[in-house]
Amino acid sequence: MKKIGIIVGSLREQSFNRIVAEAIPELAPGAEYAFISIAELPLYNGDLDKGPGPEPVRQFREAIAQADGIVIVSPEYNSGIPGVLKNALDWASTPTKTAALLRKPACVIGATPGAKGTMMAQQQIRQTLEAVQVFVLPFQKMYISQVTDKVDADRRLLTDETTRSYLQRYAEAFIRWIDQASTLN
Ligand SMILES: Cc1cc2nc3c(=O)[nH]c(=O)nc-3n(C[C@H](O)[C@H](O)[C@H](O)COP(=O)(O)O)c2cc1C
Repeated sequence: MKKIGIIVGSLREQSFNRIVAEAIPELAPGAEYAFISIAELPLYNGDLDKGPGPEPVRQFREAIAQADGIVIVSPEYNSGIPGVLKNALDWASTPTKTAALLRKPACVIGATPGAKGTMMAQQQIRQTLEAVQVFVLPFQKMYISQVTDKVDADRRLLTDETTRSYLQRYAEAFIRWIDQASTLN
């Protein structure tokens, strides 16, 4: 079975993006999933980026290396990529020639209480991933707007059936993409 690492771009305990991310393993059980935390990573500092680097960085890179593909589920902050996520992607982008993310299949999902589905953040995330030669799932996009209406009253589960079915198809397309992307190497 393929191993998929999930990175959530929000550190918030009650994060809507985490709720969306947690629905994926159940909706697309054709892979094994592991959540990869970015909360303990220090701010990127080239002076710390020597050898294996700080322990949380080493663990983060190792978790990405272990995965056959990476799903990023992230909010949008001020029309762009959350700083914590950009920081994590920067750590995964070095050392340039052996970076954990290099030529790894990935896909991008985002949820917002607002109307525009994190489109601008996703553009920036794709731009960053492209710089690291990540094979980002092309064409298909997963923009979740008005997410407050798509979860249960306790804000723990993704309940909206249309969103769940889109998410299922997106995750299944990503699992297929992992094989398709391997021909690009
Ligand atoms: C600093 C900040 C900036 C934000 N900017 C945007 C934005 O540009 N677009 C958007 O759709 N939502 C924006 N939001 C609202 C977030 O989508 C909302 O807080 C969301 O719940 C965060 O994701 P999470 O629930 O996964 O933590 C912003 C929130 C914060 C805290």
